Amino acid sequence: MSLQQFLDDLDVLVTKAQQAFDSAVSLADMETSRIEFLGAKSGLLKSVQKQMGTVPGPEKPAAGKRFNEVKNAIESAFDAAAQRLETSAVEVADEGFDATLPGPKISMGKIHPISQTILLLKDIMGRLGFTPVEGPEIEDSWHNFDALNVPLAHPARDPLDNFYLSNAKIFASDLAAGTASQADMLRSQTSTVQVRMMQHNQPPLRIISLGRVYRPDTADETHYPMFHQMEGLMVDKHVTMADLKTVLRLFATAYLGDSVPVRFRPSFFPFTEPSVEVDYFWNDRWVEFGGAGMVDPNVLTSVGYDPEQVTGFAFGLGVERLCMIRHGIKDIRDLYTNDVRFLAQF
Ligand code: FA5
Repeated sequence: MSLQQFLDDLDVLVTKAQQAFDSAVSLADMETSRIEFLGAKSGLLKSVQKQMGTVPGPEKPAAGKRFNEVKNAIESAFDAAAQRLETSAVEVADEGFDATLPGPKISMGKIHPISQTILLLKDIMGRLGFTPVEGPEIEDSWHNFDALNVPLAHPARDPLDNFYLSNAKIFASDLAAGTASQADMLRSQTSTVQVRMMQHNQPPLRIISLGRVYRPDTADETHYPMFHQMEGLMVDKHVTMADLKTVLRLFATAYLGDSVPVRFRPSFFPFTEPSVEVDYFWNDRWVEFGGAGMVDPNVLTSVGYDPEQVTGFAFGLGVERLCMIRHGIKDIRDLYTNDVRFLAQF
C-alpha cells in the first residue's frame, strides 16, 4: 500500500470515529463505538495499523507518525464523549433525581369516620337481630310526611324547613289551608324507610336503615344541612315500650360503654305514641342523639297492618353525633371540611 493511500485511510477513520463519539448520547452508544474503533482485537484502528506493514520501508516513519496522531485524536474523542455524558448525568441528578434518596412516602387511605361509624352501627344492630335496608334519598312528601301521620298544616312541612325539589310548588299558605299537592323532596328523615318496608313486607320486621338526610339547618357545632340517621324499626305481636328501651340501652352500652349515662325524655313525634327523645351525657351536658317511640296505630293502618294484631317501635339516631362522642369531636363541621390532617387521625 502506498503512503498516500494509508494516510487517506487514516483520515477517513478519524473523521468517522470523531462523529461517532460526538453523537453518542448514552454509555451504551459509547461502548459500541469504542469496540468498533478502539477494540483491541478487531477494532478499525487495529486493522489500519496492520496495513502499515505494507507501506514501503522509507515511508514507514511518516506513516507511523500520522498513525499515532490519529490514534491520539480518536482516544481524545472517546475521553471527551465520556466526560460529556458524565456531566449530563450529574445535571440530571442536580435537577432532583437522586437514586440514593428514599422514594416519596406513600400513605394508606382510610375509611371516613362517618363510614367507620356506620359499619360499627350495622355490626352492633346486626348482633341484636336488625337487618340493614336502604331507601331513596329523593322522596315524595307522602312517604316523608303523610304516611307518617304528619298533617299538611304541620310546621315540619314548611318550605323553609325542607329541601323541596324545583318541580314542587309548595307554599306555606297551601299547606296551612290543606290544599298543597304531593311534592318531591330530599328526605328529611330516614323514617321514610319504615313506611317503604312496611308497605312491601308483612310482620315480623326488624330492620335498620342508615343513610343521608337533608334539612336547611344552619351549620353549627352540632348541626349540618346534610347528615346521617340510623332508623330502626321492629314490628311484631306484643312489642312494647320495654322492648324499645331495652334495645336502645343495649345499643348505647355496646356503642358508648357502661360509663356514659343515657336518659329517655318524654317527647312528641306525629308517627309514634308515646314518644321519647334519647340523650347521652357528654362533656358536662346532655346531648340529644335521637328520637324514638311506639309506632302510631295510624301509621300501621296507612301501610295496611292491623294495629289490633301487631305493635312496633321505631327510633331515629343522628349518626354524626354518635361519631362525635366516640372520637371526642367537638364540631360536626370538622367531619365535612375534608382536611386530610384531621381525617387521618381516625
Ligand atoms: C327525627 O328525625 C325522627 N325521624 C326520629 C324518630 C324516628 C322518632 C323514629 C321516632 C321514631 P329528629 O328531628 O329529632 O327526629 O332527629 C333525630 C336526630 O338526628 C337528632 O336527635 C340529632 O341527633 C340528629 N339531627 C337532627 N338534625 C340534625 C342536624 N341538622 N345535623 C346533625 N344531626 C342532626
